[in-house]
Amino acid sequence: MNAFDGHVALVTGGGQGLGATIARELGAGGAAVVVSDMNLATATTVADEIVAAGGTAIAVKHNTTVVADHEAAVNAAVKEFGKLTLAVNNAGIGDPADFMGSMDLAQWDHMISVNLSGVAYGIRHQIPAMLKSGGGAIVNMSSIMGSVGAVGVPTGYVAAKHGVVGLTKNTALEYAKDGIRVNAVGPAFIKTPLLNNLPDEALPVLAASHPMGRLGEPEEVSALVCFLLSDRASFLTGAYYLVDGGYTAQ
Ligand SMILES: NC(=O)c1ccc[n+]([C@@H]2O[C@H](COP(=O)([O-])OP(=O)(O)OC[C@H]3O[C@@H](n4cnc5c(N)ncnc54)[C@H](O)[C@@H]3O)[C@@H](O)[C@H]2O)c1
Repeated sequence: MNAFDGHVALVTGGGQGLGATIARELGAGGAAVVVSDMNLATATTVADEIVAAGGTAIAVKHNTTVVADHEAAVNAAVKEFGKLTLAVNNAGIGDPADFMGSMDLAQWDHMISVNLSGVAYGIRHQIPAMLKSGGGAIVNMSSIMGSVGAVGVPTGYVAAKHGVVGLTKNTALEYAKDGIRVNAVGPAFIKTPLLNNLPDEALPVLAASHPMGRLGEPEEVSALVCFLLSDRASFLTGAYYLVDGGYTAQ
């Protein structure tokens, strides 16, 4: 018996990085996975990998800033696999930082749109499907920037990731008696393509900023996400769990 046998999971931003690693782990654990991403080609590659490894998956094109795309992604899960029981609202973006007194407000809107509203729109469509499916579990991707800030990180990113924590807590309260658990995770700096736009010399400095002296691996985040989605986390809801090599303990 695998941990996710009988489950149907939707992973946003599943085409690469953390989302792809989580989608693969859910697939290996027996879930039928809807790998969603605004980049259909990368989502298809991940879905194909899951199927090649003996799992079940489909890919959907899904821009999380577009409300209709959430409806379509949830409908795809229900049409293809009969229900939706697990969701990971993972899609997110970084941007070069600017100070609040001079920032381009279009950047602010973009950060909030993808990193906060995209998660809210997702939950809005996932919950009704989970209620019909008899319950479920949602994990929302925040960041260490959901509890601290840092000069060099866009303020819109920090505000959005704090917002994801509040969104998670309130949704969890609303559905605690309906068999739907909702939690958030807060990774520190993890080795994914998100860090590719940083200059090479920045990576050792970033690594040294973690008490463990290194960046995190995608699998270390996926392990926490999959635990929170599993029945082993049956009394965990409305919480925000850091996976940060000690970063926020400093
Ligand atoms: N890597 C890190 O250090 C780190 C740390 C903390 C939190 N996070 C969060 O983890 C999540 C995943 O980050 P990652 O490092 O895997 O990033 P990544 O850039 O490697 O992958 C992000 C994926 O999301 C997709 N995406 C971006 N915008 C989208 C949209 N509007 N709709 C649908 N898909 C979209 C991209 O196509 C890509 O496949 C993000 O929410 C990010 O903020 C990452």
